[in-house]
Amino acid sequence: MADTAREAIPGFGSIGEIQERLAREGYIADRMLATTLFLSVSLGKPVFIEGEPGVGKTEIAKVMSRILDTELIRLQCYEGLDSNAALYEWNYTRQLLELRLQEARGVDGLQIGHNLFSEEFLLQRPLLKALRSEGPRAPVLLIDEVDRSDEEFEAFMLEVLSDFQITIPEIGTLHARHIPFVVLTSNRTREVHDALKRRCLYHWIDYPSFAREVAILRARLPQVELRLAGQVCRFIELLRERDFYKRPGIAETIDWARALITLGIAELSPDAVQQTLGCILKYRGDSEKLKQLGLESMIEMALMPGHDPAAAAEFCT
Ligand SMILES: Nc1ncnc2c1ncn2[C@@H]1O[C@H](COP(=O)(O)OP(=O)(O)O)[C@@H](O)[C@H]1O
Ligand SMILES: [Mg+2]
Repeated sequence: MADTAREAIPGFGSIGEIQERLAREGYIADRMLATTLFLSVSLGKPVFIEGEPGVGKTEIAKVMSRILDTELIRLQCYEGLDSNAALYEWNYTRQLLELRLQEARGVDGLQIGHNLFSEEFLLQRPLLKALRSEGPRAPVLLIDEVDRSDEEFEAFMLEVLSDFQITIPEIGTLHARHIPFVVLTSNRTREVHDALKRRCLYHWIDYPSFAREVAILRARLPQVELRLAGQVCRFIELLRERDFYKRPGIAETIDWARALITLGIAELSPDAVQQTLGCILKYRGDSEKLKQLGLESMIEMALMPGHDPAAAAEFCT
C-alpha cells in the first residue's frame, strides 16, 4: 500500500525544500514541522497535528494541497458525525428517477432496478471521495478537528485509515485509487485514542516564537511595517502568557494587524488597543481581565527594547 502512496505523491528532495515551498505559499514552518511533513509524504503515513485553536493546523492541509498540486478533500468532524455523512449514502432521488426511466422505456420486469445499487448511484462523502478520487495525483484528505467526533467514529476511521479500502455490502470492496495524503487535526478538547495516533506521525504545534510570528505576519500581510509587526507580536505574546479563557491564535494576530493598518495606526497606544481589542479577545471576561491586568503596562512592556522584529528574517526564504 505504501508503495502506491509513494508513486502517487511526488516526494520532496529534502526537508529544506519542503520548508522553502511552504514559505513560498505563505506558510512559515519550523524545521520540526517540515521534517514531520517530509516523513509523512515519504513514508505514506497520515500526519496527526494537535495544538491550540488558531496555530495553523488546518492551513497545513490547504498549503500541502497547493504544493502537491492536488485536490483538497475536507471532512469536518462534529459530535454525532457518522459514516453516512463521512463515507457514502445512496442517492435515492437518482435511483427513483432511474427506476421511472426504466419503466418508461419498458425494461423487462425482471431487469428493472438491477443496477440501482452500483457505484454510479452512490453519493460520495469525503472519505469515499478521497479513496475514489480520479485525479492524476493522490488528493490531500483533511480530517479536521477529530476531537469533536465521538469515539465510535474514531474507531471507524481507524479502519478506513488502516486499509484504505471500504466494503459496501451491495457492491463489495472498493480500494483506494491512490492513497491520499492524510492530515488529521485536533484542538485537544479531548484525548484522541492511542490506536489512531499510532497510525500517524504526530506533531504538536505550539504558539510561534516571537520571531516566527513576525515572519508569519509579514508573509500574510506584506504591507505591515516591521516596527508595528514587532509591537503586535510582542503584545500578543504577552497576552498568551496570561491566563485568558481564549488566548489569541495566529489568525487573531493577522486580523489585528490588518485592523490597525486599516485605521492608519502605526504604533500601539492604549487608545489604539482599546479600539481594536475585539480583534484579539472575543470574550467579555477576557477584556475585563486585561483591564484589571493593566492595559497600559502591558503596552509599555510590548514596546520595551529587546525584541527585534528583524530577527524574523531568518524564517524568510
Ligand atoms: N505558520 C504559519 N504561516 C502562515 N500563516 C499561518 C501559520 N500558522 C497559522 N497561520 C494563519 O493563521 C490562521 C489560522 O490558522 P488555522 O490553520 O485556521 O488554525 P487552526 O486550524 O490551528 O485553528 C490562518 O489564516 C493561517 O493562514
Ligand atoms: Mg482548524
